[in-house]
Amino acid sequence: MAVSLLGPLVITTLLCMQTLADTSCTDCFVQSRAEYYPNSEVNGTDAGACGFGSFGATINGGDVSAASNLYRNGVGCGSCYQVRCTNNTYCLDNGVTVVITDQGSGDGTDFILSQRAFGGMAQTSDKAPYLLALGIVDIEYRRVSCSYPNKNITIKIDESSSNPNYLAFVIWFQQGMRDITAVQLCETQNFVCKLLDRTHGAVWTTTSPPSGPLSLRMLFSAEDGDQTWVVPSSNIPEDWKAGETYDSGVQVDK
Ligand SMILES: *[C@@H]1O[C@H](CO)[C@@H](O)[C@H](O)[C@H]1NC(C)=O
Ligand SMILES: *[C@@H]1O[C@H](CO)[C@@H](O)[C@H](O)[C@H]1NC(C)=O
Ligand SMILES: *[C@@H]1O[C@H](CO)[C@@H](O)[C@H](O)[C@H]1NC(C)=O
Repeated sequence: MAVSLLGPLVITTLLCMQTLADTSCTDCFVQSRAEYYPNSEVNGTDAGACGFGSFGATINGGDVSAASNLYRNGVGCGSCYQVRCTNNTYCLDNGVTVVITDQGSGDGTDFILSQRAFGGMAQTSDKAPYLLALGIVDIEYRRVSCSYPNKNITIKIDESSSNPNYLAFVIWFQQGMRDITAVQLCETQNFVCKLLDRTHGAVWTTTSPPSGPLSLRMLFSAEDGDQTWVVPSSNIPEDWKAGETYDSGVQVDK
């Protein structure tokens, strides 16, 4: 009698502990420091190391950041973090959500935020100047899902793709909490696929790209090792042009 009552109880307790253990560390905040770009621009920089150009300065309302370790050799480009400063005289509980578009490090910092994002950690716009005056602050951060509810993942062909034998692009509006760790282009006729190189930041390139309309495949990788190839519904047209953007027709939400 005692055993049959205890049995389910023990199992339930173990399940709860398991659930707690699983969620606690993906949700934990990490202690660090942050500063902001010294230039007068309130947004990020057009010259961000990720290679996003002006998109990288103004995406997410200009709440963007350079990362040091979290840049991860470019894999961190396009990922999102919740960043909150910890001085309770000035700082909002929720802080801001920023998108990584650049690489940079300062005095023990993980983030160099845009001024807009740095000031956005303040409780009110009146307190933002006091926060900015500190220059560098203690923060806590955690990875969060990127959300662009009204945007599909979009391919921006880099200006450097000046001849048909060289294709370079960046991926705009990366969504969810996973990294894009590999990209393939496949011919839609005979399914010849080519794996691209990440040359720097978020820039994917290939010499002699496959021909015809191209089907993109992106490998989304989670921290726990889970990997999924996402295949958009729309193709990159045969006559792709440098500087153009192509809507992939797909959203990714986890
Ligand atoms: C800064 O970013 C915001 C939001 O994207 C944009 O509306 C504004 O025009 C940008 N400012 C400059 C100077 O680019
Ligand atoms: C918040 O910052 C102000 C100005 O630097 C400082 O005087 C105060 O002690 C800080 N408060 C906390 C709780 O750290
Ligand atoms: C996203 O793609 C879908 C499917 O192609 C399309 O119906 C929708 O209009 C696109 N959304 C935006 C915001 O472009």
